[in-house]
Amino acid sequence: MLRIHELTSEERAVYATLKPECLPEHVAIIMDGNGRWAGHRSLKRFQGHQQGAKSVQLVTETASRIGLPWLTLYAFSLENSLRRPRAEVNFLMRLLKTYLESNVQRMMDNNVRIRYIGRTRELPPEVQDKMAWAAEVTSRNTGTTLTLALNYGGRSELVDAFRSLAAEVEIKHTNPARITEEDIHRHLYTAHMPDPDLLIRTSGEMRLSNYLLWQVAYTEIFVTERLWPDFRGIHLLEAIANFQRRERRYGGLGEGSGEVDEESERIKIAAV
Ligand code: FPP
Repeated sequence: MLRIHELTSEERAVYATLKPECLPEHVAIIMDGNGRWAGHRSLKRFQGHQQGAKSVQLVTETASRIGLPWLTLYAFSLENSLRRPRAEVNFLMRLLKTYLESNVQRMMDNNVRIRYIGRTRELPPEVQDKMAWAAEVTSRNTGTTLTLALNYGGRSELVDAFRSLAAEVEIKHTNPARITEEDIHRHLYTAHMPDPDLLIRTSGEMRLSNYLLWQVAYTEIFVTERLWPDFRGIHLLEAIANFQRRERRYGGLGEGSGEVDEESERIKIAAV
């Protein structure tokens, strides 16, 4: 259900410029820049993460008001857990628990369902318990599905998918030569959702950082200099407006590229 009247007046103004029939179904976000946001204010990194958690909730609520079906946020990568100081990783785990405890009611109020992707079984048990609780409490909501990628890596997702596909091939005695793209899709963490139409990355870096590698094959990418703790619903709407100005071709020809006349193409080739 659309709740446009709950948007701020600035958000409504941007929303009014959007084509409702071309809204993305799935937006994925690489939330980056918490540390720099804190650094610019002479704050500690953890304060940047705290502010980043507020952005998560505000952006999710705008997504739910415009009826976005799928929002997938890169909250914690496998590399984060391997390469960041233990104290920061522990802080991020505590922050996730607190975030879930304090925001499940707001998710209920906004009809948001929360889910997770990643190697979540490697997270601390008390965090997993809180995650399972939030997923269960919100499981019957029918609005935006907020998916948090936690202890996630795109390559490890592919490894997990290939392992489970290989097991299926063995059990069902199927021919590996008959494996299709759909079979791989069925074994991804994201099997139940469409591929992202739009990938947003904050803080200006032009990298995928091992995020949803299979799924972003034809995704439009929008990079903003804005740091994640400063990112709000209005910026999501601006990214969607930018997305709607693009022409998606999926490897085909764009509009206005002209008819291909086979005969004249043959003549041109012959003349080369
Ligand atoms: C990058 O900032 C961000 C992360 C490590 C992941 C995102 C985490 C949050 C938004 C906080 C909590 C999330 C939830 C769901 C409660 P960075 O530290 O890499 O920034 P930098 O590149 O400026 O150092």
